[in-house]
Amino acid sequence: MDTKFAIPEIIFGRGSLNHAGQCALRLGAKKVFLVSDDGIERAGWLGRLMEILEDAGVTWIYYPGVTPNPRDFQIELGAELYAKNGADVICAIGGGSALDTAKGIAIIASNGGRIQDYEGANRVRKPLPPMAMITTTAGSGADISQFCIITDMKRRLKMSIITRTLMPDVAIVDPLILRTKSESLIIQSAADALAHAIEAYMSRIASPFTEINSLQAITLIIANLEHAVATRSLDALEQLSIAAVSASMAFSNASLGAEHALAHALGGYFDIQHGLMHPILLPSVMRFNMAANPKKMADIGRLLCKRRGRCSFTDDRDAAVKGIETLEKFFSSFNVPLRLRELIPPEGRLLFEPICRMAVGDACNLTNPKPMQWDDFLAVCEETW
Ligand SMILES: [Fe+2]
Repeated sequence: MDTKFAIPEIIFGRGSLNHAGQCALRLGAKKVFLVSDDGIERAGWLGRLMEILEDAGVTWIYYPGVTPNPRDFQIELGAELYAKNGADVICAIGGGSALDTAKGIAIIASNGGRIQDYEGANRVRKPLPPMAMITTTAGSGADISQFCIITDMKRRLKMSIITRTLMPDVAIVDPLILRTKSESLIIQSAADALAHAIEAYMSRIASPFTEINSLQAITLIIANLEHAVATRSLDALEQLSIAAVSASMAFSNASLGAEHALAHALGGYFDIQHGLMHPILLPSVMRFNMAANPKKMADIGRLLCKRRGRCSFTDDRDAAVKGIETLEKFFSSFNVPLRLRELIPPEGRLLFEPICRMAVGDACNLTNPKPMQWDDFLAVCEETW
């Protein structure tokens, strides 16, 4: 099978935010459309970016309408502001929510219509405005990826929009920014990156170019997350940044799997932060996927166990099972929810069937080793309740 591998220009390093002005100029910017959120504004990073752009002679217009789990109407409002102000380059600084908001605005700015028109794979026809993305978390991968996740408020559903044109032109990854993140955000972002790496490795369209990046990401996250959380060491945070970029290069090209499909369906319905879903759902979906590709799940198992000092296996299945158990222990060593009932009210359980039916249609489910049916998703929800 033919394969393709596409990534943006990536500018990585401590202080790399300082290149944002030159990047905007190279993209032809006269007036940048800036997207960010409260937290980044309060931490001073947005102000710093505005200064960097002004120093380069670039003006900007700022759209502050970003919340966690970006919503369809926020995209429409942003696209109106973009059109009214004659901006020419889109630049976002923040986590996945800010970056996905910017990507959604880019789609409507150049293609028109409503964001729902583009749900699924390869439905965006016209090229988007140039985009420079500055990630402030080591996780979402929206700065690298061909993905954009927006909540349809009427259906209470996170829509996966996946298309090559959503890949930004430039990604700036500055590990210095991670120092202002909370412990919980560092863990959630790393759990997201780990899920990206594992799902991309297991994907039906994984290639040698994505697999190597998946394995590097898994290794770095397991080796560095505890240290990064305990000490905020810049070296450890930088390793998590490298892991997140690697995982993003993998999943942007190999796509994801059923765990993300279910995380989108549950997270959209109950408005749960994306990074909280993975410690709960990932091991259970991996158990389902073990049967479809025991050899690859064993590769992941061996890697996870090696990093945690367990190295003897009878066969592939044993390595896969021990790997999943090791991952569960790893997640339980952090202060994160491990059961759905910690995030969803008891009456929410009655809604699992329609939510699981929605998960089947998420584009991420297509590349799972064996796409899940609604009752497979329901079994995961019940097991992890
Ligand atoms: Fe994710």
